[in-house]
Amino acid sequence: MSSNQETIAGVGLADRPRKSRWPARMDLAQSTTGLVLALFMWGHMFFVSTILISKDAMWAVTKMFEGYFFFGKAFPGIVSVVVATILAILVLHAFLAMRKFPANYRQYREFVAHKNLMHHGDTTLWWWQVLTGFALFFLATVHLYQMLMHPGAIGPYQSADRVWTGSWWPLYLVLLFAVELHGGIGLYRLCVKWGWLEGKDPAASRARLKTAKWVLTAFFLALGLLTLGAYLKIGYEHRARAGEVYTPAWVQPNPMEKAP
Ligand code: HEM
Repeated sequence: MSSNQETIAGVGLADRPRKSRWPARMDLAQSTTGLVLALFMWGHMFFVSTILISKDAMWAVTKMFEGYFFFGKAFPGIVSVVVATILAILVLHAFLAMRKFPANYRQYREFVAHKNLMHHGDTTLWWWQVLTGFALFFLATVHLYQMLMHPGAIGPYQSADRVWTGSWWPLYLVLLFAVELHGGIGLYRLCVKWGWLEGKDPAASRARLKTAKWVLTAFFLALGLLTLGAYLKIGYEHRARAGEVYTPAWVQPNPMEKAP
């Protein structure tokens, strides 16, 4: 019998609707957007942490993203385009992730009972990813909206003034923990799910991956806390002149911009 003449429960296979490829496509899209966001976060943490080197280093990174060294003039709109792209990827990623959330109280109770019964490390990690992902809906979008609308207000003093005088530090503190836990677990799950770095002994590689995950999370948390501490210190010391724009000593002020 040829395959399209086969029947299941009296229904010919040829008459049955073809299985949808959309769940697989959505899974792939969720993994891809997650990977892009995680890689973006690594870059972001390194760029933001240049404040630990010096104010001039952070200023140079900011101006680089505004195209200053390319066009000879700063265009903060370039930053807005990058932020809008990240925001779009974040919204798509969150939309796709919502499919996996427990949809009602009964599903939630069933999952929690299952998790508590199994004591399975990866299942518990998945639950942490759901919780931190939910928190990121609110925390990350607030930050991105600020960056989208005020891309020119990024710099050693302006960022530090926002963190201290603008009281953004509590949001950044919670956001830092949420994003580093979420990204670390997410990258680990991507490796396990798609079989990356699996090697000859999957159980041994999974244990190694888990260690690598915690090392990376600890590194980015430490870097993030030090960076936040640096912005807090600069912001506190600069509080009396909050709003002033930092200009490195080696940058000549433009005579056209001087007051008459
Ligand atoms: C998924 C998106 C993002 C997340 C989760 C995120 C997360 C964070 C976190 C946790 C901090 C605090 C840093 C620390 O504690 O050391 C921070 C600061 C900062 N972020 Fe982001 N960020 C995102 C996107 C962006 C984008 C697109 C920009 C574009 C310019 C940006 C620019 C900055 C800047 C300049 C700071 C320093 C403080 C300030 O100026 O307010 N972030 N971000």
